[in-house]
Amino acid sequence: MKTTVRLRVNGVERSHQIEPRLLLVHYLRDILGLTGTHIGCDTSTCGACTVLLNGQAVKSCTVFAVQADGAEVTTIEGLARNGELHPVQEGFWEHHALQCGYCTPGMIIAAAQLLARNPSPTEDEIRHGLEGNLCRCTGYQHIVEAVQYAAQKMRERK
Ligand code: FES
Ligand code: FES
Repeated sequence: MKTTVRLRVNGVERSHQIEPRLLLVHYLRDILGLTGTHIGCDTSTCGACTVLLNGQAVKSCTVFAVQADGAEVTTIEGLARNGELHPVQEGFWEHHALQCGYCTPGMIIAAAQLLARNPSPTEDEIRHGLEGNLCRCTGYQHIVEAVQYAAQKMRERK
């Protein structure tokens, strides 16, 4: 049995007939082709699948696509605006905050939510805010620096 899901993804209205058991991450990747959202574990541990659901960071491997019906979803593909990188994306670029890049989309989405809630986080608050996202490569220091860079950029732009 299929059901209709309607949602807005990166500013675009989407509507599909899907199986109710389809996970949001599979909907984004397999049906919409938005493969920037990664799957690292399938056990809600790694955070590689993190997207914004109505502005809240969620692990899209733990959400059914039908639960996002009527919602606004932002993936890594939708974070840049008018050809300009989001300050967190810019921070990752400037501070070499990635190596293999597997964790990066989820890490950036989680950091964007963190800064939307707390524009001036301490280092501890950044580490705490990103604790649901695992990186096997960087040792986290560059990621923290990237978020600090983004926080400063965002404060300057206000
Ligand atoms: Fe969703 Fe790892 S794939 S938390
Ligand atoms: Fe490789 Fe984070 S950059 S897992």
